[in-house]
Amino acid sequence: MAEKKIIAVLGATGAQGGGMARAILADPNGGFAVRAITRDTNSEKAKALAQAGAEVVAADVDDIESLKKAFQGAYGAFCVTFFWVHFSPEKEMAEAHAMAQAAKHAGLKHVIWSTLEDTRNWVPLSDNRMPTLHGKYKVPHFDGKGESNKFFAEAGVPTTFLLTAFYWENFIYFGAGPQPGPDGKLVLTVPLGDKKMPSIAVEDIGKCAYGIFKRGSEFIGKTVGIAGEHLTGEQMAAGLTRALGQEVRYNSVSPEAYRSFGFPGADDLGNMYQFKRDFEDYYCGARSIEFSRSLNPELQTYDQWLAENKSLIPLKTAA
Ligand SMILES: NC(=O)c1ccc[n+]([C@@H]2O[C@H](COP(=O)([O-])OP(=O)(O)OC[C@H]3O[C@@H](n4cnc5c(N)ncnc54)[C@H](OP(=O)(O)O)[C@@H]3O)[C@@H](O)[C@H]2O)c1
Repeated sequence: MAEKKIIAVLGATGAQGGGMARAILADPNGGFAVRAITRDTNSEKAKALAQAGAEVVAADVDDIESLKKAFQGAYGAFCVTFFWVHFSPEKEMAEAHAMAQAAKHAGLKHVIWSTLEDTRNWVPLSDNRMPTLHGKYKVPHFDGKGESNKFFAEAGVPTTFLLTAFYWENFIYFGAGPQPGPDGKLVLTVPLGDKKMPSIAVEDIGKCAYGIFKRGSEFIGKTVGIAGEHLTGEQMAAGLTRALGQEVRYNSVSPEAYRSFGFPGADDLGNMYQFKRDFEDYYCGARSIEFSRSLNPELQTYDQWLAENKSLIPLKTAA
């Protein structure tokens, strides 16, 4: 049997990379093997990956020499950065730059870079519809990723630029789920008006990425976008109502109101939702559900995801 092509997976103990690792491990005859990258090879999650058949290696995205070593001898890599660890687009760009340089050094044949739009191409800094943040960004956690595309292109790394989407897991782990309103009833607060937003089960990001690797060189040099569904706030709330068996109302606030909520990153997320709202046609158009399903026939619908995960969504009661 031909030797398996090794995919080095960043963030393998996390959401996107974990899905990538599990997609490869679930297909033992698919011709690919996982090299899971973590800072701590002794963590429970790292040990579980090793137990499931992954090679587990230590590296830190802030240490390029460790990345070069982790990529050595691999066929490809799944590259993702971790904005919410530090909230710094500059740091995110430095990490993406290190990944691209390490990929070039290792001579990787195919990198999937998990990216998002540089929103300044749609909303220049001079456009006052939303505030400029950190001096030179509109949506910092998007713009740094989009600007980082050039590091992979300029280094000549064979790259697929993967535009991801809002994960439904944000309802569980990111504080984005329903909260009790003033009357004690649950509300889902999203500043989208009546516009649709692409969203996805995070496990499906990894499965779609695996579909891209399996298609060989077809998507190298290309930008591809994925989503499980395109849903309005009303539809997201209605799905939660069905799944939870109690009413969840859609609370459509303005982006200005959302930015003023004051939690860390509220301004960044307020601008993000405004970008998605104001450029709905482009943003949904760049993330085709049919295309995603062609990469990953197991692509979950919102209702399927809710049926599986509803009990994990933390529900606070009114104070
Ligand atoms: N939430 C959304 O809806 C959404 C949508 C699209 C894109 N994104 C983007 O997704 C990215 C985060 O991905 P994720 O959700 O998969 O992250 P995650 O679940 O928080 O996973 C992070 C993993 O990365 C590893 N990590 C953290 N710092 C590291 C470092 N310095 N070096 C090496 N590994 C490190 C950690 O592994 P160890 O502790 O094992 O080292 C951790 O398990 C963010 O940049 C965000 O903007 C999010």
